[in-house]
Amino acid sequence: MPVVPLKEIVDRAFTERYGVPAINVVNDLTMEAVLAAAVRERSPVIVQTSVKTVRSIGLDLLFAMWRELTAGIEVPVSLHLDHCPDRSVITGCLRQGWNSVLFDASSLPVEENQRQTIEVVAEARGYGANVEGEIESITGVEDGIGSDEVAQTQSLPVAIEFIRATGIDVFAPAIGNAHGVYHAEPKLDAQRVSDIVAEQPIPIALHGGTGMTDAQFTDLIARGCAKVNISTDLKVTFMRANLAYLRTAEEQNKWDPPSLFSSVREAVLEMAAGHMRRFGSAGRAGAGKAR
Ligand code: 13P
Repeated sequence: MPVVPLKEIVDRAFTERYGVPAINVVNDLTMEAVLAAAVRERSPVIVQTSVKTVRSIGLDLLFAMWRELTAGIEVPVSLHLDHCPDRSVITGCLRQGWNSVLFDASSLPVEENQRQTIEVVAEARGYGANVEGEIESITGVEDGIGSDEVAQTQSLPVAIEFIRATGIDVFAPAIGNAHGVYHAEPKLDAQRVSDIVAEQPIPIALHGGTGMTDAQFTDLIARGCAKVNISTDLKVTFMRANLAYLRTAEEQNKWDPPSLFSSVREAVLEMAAGHMRRFGSAGRAGAGKAR
């Protein structure tokens, strides 16, 4: 069963310079659709859960869905906990079997963030799991976590020291990216990714993927962004597909939930597959087995 550590997926993507979509799912339907896209596209994929999703569905049920939906899957997949400032949720997810966590202590002073991230890395290693770290909060609120204030950027030496001292597996810098919908094309500091990677070759997580242009993705992935986070696109696709289907159902006075589910699933699957092709992860997983 190729549920694999996050590191296995991102290290290869980093070396071969393609990006792997890390997609926040919100329920069983979206989890299944994202996994089905990976199988169809023969792509690795990272399935992410926000703390909000963990709390709303519950650790046991969410992990049971994951186990069931990945049983027998033949493409590399990994389950990741997105932005989590709460150490008890981190511990719960690691114990349950999540493959990696993003310990988000970006609101703390860097020294305290670094001290605690070292502890989280040691804890994760005990479960064979990986850790993503960050020292600057990514602008925008993601499922109740974060702020719309633009955070202060740390210097390159501080970032490099944090990566070296903590032993994290993936680093998430702030480069002008933001969670949510961009109101204009974002101005990104791509050079910062190159500067970090030149000093310390570590896979970079690109947050705030929704709304970036193809040219931005291509450039940033070539510089070392191996994990490309997508959340808003799934939420919008999911809600719009529901809305479109329900409008038609109302017009026709036809009320069949399974047809609604398959229509929404198709839309989410196509969205995820599009990102796999766009980021170059499609076709990297060898022969896939359709579920
Ligand atoms: P978007 O919501 O902009 O897709 O960003 C997702 C993300 O970075 C999750 O951590």
